[in-house]
Amino acid sequence: MKHLIDIKDLDVEEIDELIKVAKDIIGNPKKYAHKCEAKILATLFFEPSTRTRLSFESAMLRLGGNVLGFSEASSSSVAKGESVADTIRVVGNYSDIIVMRHPKEGAPLVASEKSDVPIINAGDGGHNHPTQTLTDLLTIKCEKGRLDNLTIGLCGDLKFGRTVHSLITAMSRYKNIKFVLISPPELKLPEYVKKEILEKNKMEYIETDDILEYMDKLDILYMTRVQKERFFNEADYVRLKDYYILNKEKLKVAKKDLCIMHPLPRVNEISADVDQDERACYFKQANYGKYIRMALILKMLEEK
Ligand code: NCD
Repeated sequence: MKHLIDIKDLDVEEIDELIKVAKDIIGNPKKYAHKCEAKILATLFFEPSTRTRLSFESAMLRLGGNVLGFSEASSSSVAKGESVADTIRVVGNYSDIIVMRHPKEGAPLVASEKSDVPIINAGDGGHNHPTQTLTDLLTIKCEKGRLDNLTIGLCGDLKFGRTVHSLITAMSRYKNIKFVLISPPELKLPEYVKKEILEKNKMEYIETDDILEYMDKLDILYMTRVQKERFFNEADYVRLKDYYILNKEKLKVAKKDLCIMHPLPRVNEISADVDQDERACYFKQANYGKYIRMALILKMLEEK
């Protein structure tokens, strides 16, 4: 049985197939409306979420399936001291597929080793977020028409931003991808991502703390929120949280066909005046997330 813990659990052909199915769902939603009848998806969220949890639930409901779960650890038996392994073993009896988010890195991997049903990692600490990456890949494919030959600016909290780590991993398998890594010195991309992904795959990248330095070169600008919940110290968060604020003025030098992405939630890093710009793709991106999750649920239940 296959789980989705890391984006590398899917090869490029499988990702292409998921994108193809997601596009077909966008064009022909009725064809899929009963595909998961009598199936149950459980969402176990030990950490807050809006988009990821609700888009998974919406995806399953749109496939004709059912959903159950909890949205905070305090409302489950975890609050009584139950281990993740025990929770998973039990919920596997109540559902056909489990989506799980957890503040501890590696928790979904541990869960998958104990589970009789497929597990999808919906974010583990500052580590990975493979279904956000599938969302990002569908967005890039639909908005830019390709997944290769791209210069991608990643801006903000590259240290704790799990969506960034998964996206870099995914893009390392496509040709001629260049990264511009834009962050304050304290929030640079972790060494392990640089060594194991960028350097191992001989990918081109530049690091800067200036959002404007390479703005005119970018095909994609992927903004991220400073990950407040991963900071040990409130003062550091307050000092760094507004380091980057993308606004209309800063976009003047950018390409006309730039694609501005953000996994959301946004705090201050993109000013509201950018929302009307044709290049702003972040709300579309959140919608693409539902379709790619529909395709993923279908694939994983079929394989099971
Ligand atoms: C992201 C996450 O949870 O990592 N959100 C999401 O899933 N859309 C990004 C974030 O919280 O900043």
